[in-house]
Amino acid sequence: MKKPLLLGTSALLLAGSSALAQQDVTIRWMAGNTAIAMETTQAMAQMYMDANPHTIGGEEYNVTVEVIQGPESASDRYALYLQFFQAQSAEADILEIDVIWPGDLAEHLVDLYEYEGVAEDVQAHFPAIVENNTVDGRLVGIPAFTDAGLLYYRSDLLEEYGFDGPPETWAELEEMARTIVEGESADNPDFTGFVWQGQAYEGLTCNALEWIASFGGGTIVSQEGQIEVFNDQAIAALETAAGWVGTISPQAVTGFQEEDARRIFTAGNAVFMRNWPYAYALLVDAEGDVTTENVGITTLPAGEEGGTPAATLGGWQYGVNRYSNNPEVAVDVARFMASREGQLYRALNEGLLPTIEALYEDEELLGSPYAWFADLLPVFQSAVARPSTPTAPRYNEVSRAFFTAVHGVLMGTTDAETALGELEFTLEELTGLPVAGGAQEVASR
Ligand code: GLC
Repeated sequence: MKKPLLLGTSALLLAGSSALAQQDVTIRWMAGNTAIAMETTQAMAQMYMDANPHTIGGEEYNVTVEVIQGPESASDRYALYLQFFQAQSAEADILEIDVIWPGDLAEHLVDLYEYEGVAEDVQAHFPAIVENNTVDGRLVGIPAFTDAGLLYYRSDLLEEYGFDGPPETWAELEEMARTIVEGESADNPDFTGFVWQGQAYEGLTCNALEWIASFGGGTIVSQEGQIEVFNDQAIAALETAAGWVGTISPQAVTGFQEEDARRIFTAGNAVFMRNWPYAYALLVDAEGDVTTENVGITTLPAGEEGGTPAATLGGWQYGVNRYSNNPEVAVDVARFMASREGQLYRALNEGLLPTIEALYEDEELLGSPYAWFADLLPVFQSAVARPSTPTAPRYNEVSRAFFTAVHGVLMGTTDAETALGELEFTLEELTGLPVAGGAQEVASR
């Protein structure tokens, strides 16, 4: 719907003339915050601006896209968005939305299906992600990229210390880390075994879900809506991870986010790292010890031999703020960013996994340092979802309760059995959902 022009004299003169007046519009886009997210986002914004003027809904627009940096932590970003929404603020028109937020934030985002072209666009994207972003029939995010937790390892060091390949179980990872740290720390006192995300925030929920799911301990709340957090396998998983703090992992890991882990690993100070695919982009043009030459990427370890490894499903969407003054133009910008061209650009320059299935067969991608995306497609597609759909619109609170409990165990302020027992109770109170046989399972210990 066209907004009335500001009635300055020139606008009055133009009104009624047959030539279309170009409207100047600024779209503010709150972007990511990893090492190269700002750079690539700005480059894409520039590509869109280079194509000015844009014809949108029969009107001509001269669009300025202003990229603003969002907070680094997903949890902080969520809190900031809530502030915007409470104030019905148009501070940002396009918001990057984490895969877990559609159910919690739907009411503050426009239904993208109401805008021309979007319904056709999303047909090229993975249906599961489109479904995830559809709340009560409203599409609240166009998929931007998908994500899954991976194990990065120093293949040169593994070989040097006589290991055949990356670890298949967490116990193997511990053993390899211990051996290699023992050897390396003589020359490099900063050298550590395994870096990951242990700060009390959404990233810890992702890490801990991987440990627990790989031990067969469930997914916090099942997709069918049963609380499944208090069981022997989940307890064993948390006890195992707590044992890493201050041994194969630095004590400070309980304060790490993605970039903290990534900086240590790319500086050559760790054997193993748990991170998302973006971290690979920082190795592509790297110099020194840690380059794509001597770093391998594989699935995270399983809880036990013959067990199943688990990767948490992540990823981001472009949502349009319901309080934006120019939603139609914002949707057009978001459509460009999520297009084949936009996703290929982010894949090749930022290491982000496309959600457009055809890009996994794209020649340019297959000829690039990111050809491994195609090999790992089954891992991404079988990634474990956090329980955001069964707990919406309270997922954020569920996750907060979960990562707070896990953090207490990592810090040694509480033991895993007590923490998970209390968490079960908290989740019942929070969600009103039933417990999946938890009491019985633990009583048999
Ligand atoms: C990554 C994932 C996102 C997750 C976040 C946690 O950005 O894509 O889904 O919530 O990490 O730190």
